[in-house]
Amino acid sequence: MCGIIGYVGGRPCRELILTGLERLEYRGYDSAGFALLDASDGVVEAVRAVGNLSALREAAGLNGGSAATAGLGHTRWATHGRVTTDNAHPHTSADGTVLVVMNGIIENYLELRSELMEQGVVFSSDTDTEVIPHLIHREYAGDLATAVRAVLPRLGGHFAFVAAHVDEPERLVATRRECPLVLGVGDGERFVASAIPAFLRETRDIMLIEDGEVVTIEADEHHVWHGSELLPPRPVERVDWDEDAAEKGGYETFMLKEIHEQPSALWDTIGDRLRPDGSVELLGLGLDDATLARVERIHIVACGTSYHAGLVGRYLIEDWARVPVHVEVASEYRYRTCLAGPGDLIIGITQSGETADTLAAMRVARERGAHVVALTNIMGSQATRDADGVLYTRAGLEIGVAATKTHTAQVMALSLFALKLGRLKWALTAGGALDLADELRRLPDALEAYLASPAPEQVMTVAERYAERPFFLYLGRHVGVPVCFEGALKLKEISYIPTEAYPAGEMKHGPIALLEEGSPVVVVATDGHVFDKVVSNIQEVRARGARVIAVATEGNEEIGRHADDVLWAPRSPALLSAICAVVPLQIFAYGLARARGLNVDQPRNLAKTVTVE
Ligand code: F6R
Repeated sequence: MCGIIGYVGGRPCRELILTGLERLEYRGYDSAGFALLDASDGVVEAVRAVGNLSALREAAGLNGGSAATAGLGHTRWATHGRVTTDNAHPHTSADGTVLVVMNGIIENYLELRSELMEQGVVFSSDTDTEVIPHLIHREYAGDLATAVRAVLPRLGGHFAFVAAHVDEPERLVATRRECPLVLGVGDGERFVASAIPAFLRETRDIMLIEDGEVVTIEADEHHVWHGSELLPPRPVERVDWDEDAAEKGGYETFMLKEIHEQPSALWDTIGDRLRPDGSVELLGLGLDDATLARVERIHIVACGTSYHAGLVGRYLIEDWARVPVHVEVASEYRYRTCLAGPGDLIIGITQSGETADTLAAMRVARERGAHVVALTNIMGSQATRDADGVLYTRAGLEIGVAATKTHTAQVMALSLFALKLGRLKWALTAGGALDLADELRRLPDALEAYLASPAPEQVMTVAERYAERPFFLYLGRHVGVPVCFEGALKLKEISYIPTEAYPAGEMKHGPIALLEEGSPVVVVATDGHVFDKVVSNIQEVRARGARVIAVATEGNEEIGRHADDVLWAPRSPALLSAICAVVPLQIFAYGLARARGLNVDQPRNLAKTVTVE
């Protein structure tokens, strides 16, 4: 969600801050701002604007504050207060001496706001953030770090913020509680940001700021405090991310690039984990094989697309390992009576590793003694720190707000896990496991061949024909159900077209009433034991005049008799069609959104990283 960046160093930093914010755009935002400080003149430039970063650049003009070598910037995703310039960050104390940018939520802000108003403070925004600069101003006696440390215990909620004071223009102070914050250490310069991509072009040396720590940053030094204790220096780590990963690499959008990166995301996620004999090594789960073999119940908690991966995981784990799996959206799980306990395994799936509800659900289960594993794409993310073990997807950085490659990589990681558990539980024979391992290994190649074939272009052409339709119904059975859920979510997210997704067997119990002459119905009809049942459902919807767009396995000769249009999916065993069938649906959603002229990388109202409840 919100993105923050701060810089102190020897270079003019205006452009560094603006490009840093651009590198955080993927997190989602609706307004933005920055402020620059100069050693002699205090705040030399402060600009805020509603809309995207080009609106901010336009509002800022060309040369303001261009020599300033310290500053802070922010992309805001509105939580408290509407999307207005006044609510955009940085927020300041009434006299303008303290500046703050924040990500997260101050839960007790109303109480703090009333207290400050009683003391005569006049607020200029509706945000929760604004209480922070006022509180810091009240505590300030010549040292910003001391004032921030004094304010911290008063703040409820979860947040990360960076503060500046005009009397200390060559220093920033930053802190975090349950929201990410990372320090970038360059030569004679320091960055602080909510995520590494913000400064990756400038330095690869980073230090993660831990919960509750306060860090002071100057050009040549930084110091970390916990409460009143100054912590001993700790080493910086070097990140080896490929900088090109954050570029579009010749594709028209990040989403299209990421759809095409799925074969390599799958290869990398398999990596060296799958051995020639079909056994699977998953380091980092925090459980030895003997303990894992005793697990009797698994709960999967996640949100959105990650939840859909979890639903696929249930089919895989129950079929291959015969262990019951309960899958629930994290925002519900966290407030239900939690019956998990010692002996249960909880898998929290979150590509970003920062989703507030998923983290909270994991925490609830962990407090009850369950073993919690985070399935995530981001090293060092909050989920990895809150869990007992980690299973990484290796999809690389995903910039498009709509998840694609992280989703299929999650399904692959769950397949590896299911295969491992299946062997440990003796639910799979050695031969059976070997066959499945071969199928998993074949999958990335099959997908790569598919993406290089004319099939994706054909999917786009079909999509264009339906671009004006106001509603789509998605139907499927068995593992095709979560595939439908995911396909329908992709379409509504990036094309803003209402969709419903249902198990096909439920159709007669309600959704069939929606159908009229020409209604488009997307049906997942890949090969497998429910194919004939799905064909019966297709006949039922066609009898009501609906147009059927079927997702079918390449080479299926029967489907042409039943469907108006076919989106071909690469051949795979039935359960693994969860990966093969979702890809054409991603492309279908993409084609529709493109035909409608929409910005697929940054759909309205959506954020890549949902750090608030
Ligand atoms: C949809 C999408 C979201 C996320 C959800 C959870 O394309 O990306 O539905 O899947 O916000 O995010 P993570 O996986 O980061 O927890």
